[in-house]
Amino acid sequence: MSPFDTDTLRHAFGSFMTGVTVVTAKSASGELVGFTANSFTSVSLEPPLLLVCPGQHLSSIDVFNSCSHFAVSVLAEGQESIANLFAKTVDDRFEKHDWQADEFGSPLIADAVATFSCSAYQRHEAGDHIVLIGQVHGLQVTEQQGLGYSSQGYFSLSDEQQSDASGLAGYSAVAGAIIELEDRVVIAQDNNGASLPCITQSTTVGARTSLQNYFDKLGLAVELGTVYSIYDDAKSKTRFTFIRATVISADISADISADISRLGTLETIDSLDTLCFQNKAQASMMSRYAAESRLKKFELYIGSADSGDIHPLDKPKG
Ligand SMILES: Cc1cc2nc3c(=O)[nH]c(=O)nc-3n(C[C@H](O)[C@H](O)[C@H](O)COP(=O)(O)O)c2cc1C
Repeated sequence: MSPFDTDTLRHAFGSFMTGVTVVTAKSASGELVGFTANSFTSVSLEPPLLLVCPGQHLSSIDVFNSCSHFAVSVLAEGQESIANLFAKTVDDRFEKHDWQADEFGSPLIADAVATFSCSAYQRHEAGDHIVLIGQVHGLQVTEQQGLGYSSQGYFSLSDEQQSDASGLAGYSAVAGAIIELEDRVVIAQDNNGASLPCITQSTTVGARTSLQNYFDKLGLAVELGTVYSIYDDAKSKTRFTFIRATVISADISADISADISRLGTLETIDSLDTLCFQNKAQASMMSRYAAESRLKKFELYIGSADSGDIHPLDKPKG
């Protein structure tokens, strides 16, 4: 018997930070399959080889055990929802996100950092997984940053770098969320006016993990998305990081309403401009948010409470 249990082993394996990929293939009968994998490893330059480890538990394991070709898409920052989509058992994964077939018919995930089109080079059975080595026949690579993963969840390096307030001597950090549910946003209101749900950021982890831990503690099913605004307020010596988030629910049940009511009320995006926010920075951020919601194009603000730069998040598609 091993001197450790499976949970401890999983936890120890999870302490190794990785990127996130989606491994895909087309079965002999033409069915498209794929799963989220962080077991991706580069193996050899000559010949060009990589490996991934599909588990025996996968619904698609028969395909990965027999396919002549497969593909690996390295996910970019902001593609957490795709990682989640391919890590849960859902029927129509390929209808929920854009992809295109490579020359062998394997699906490549749109807007990935890099994609590799491979032939199956070798397979090795290894316990409850197989080691699938692929020879790379085609690839595409962009300059985006990759999505990161550790046992604490997904992270993006640029968010962490931007939201690390430790470089600002004497500054504390506040993390806030713009929580969306369809065309509404969660707003807290008290005698001082309207505000977004915010927490004092832990000193040991970044804004994203602080918020995720907070929502987990509340038992609120909220998925964090891209960072929307990072600004330093010299007066209160505070760095604010606001992250967009979505309530995970198809329809808003009584339970979810009760959970949300602990944070605030759901206000329509159209009504945001009429609310009286407690401070100017949040008022102008939410006014920008309302305008960008109408255009369905969100950008990132980095600066101070008074002035800063807007950074486009999406690359124009060619
Ligand atoms: C970040 C992350 C990495 C994963 N890496 C692997 C992996 O390398 N191999 C594997 O078999 N499953 C891995 N999984 C689990 C599969 O993605 C998950 O079990 C998936 O739902 C299986 O697909 P299926 O529902 O079609 O069986 C990972 C999940 C996550 C969230």
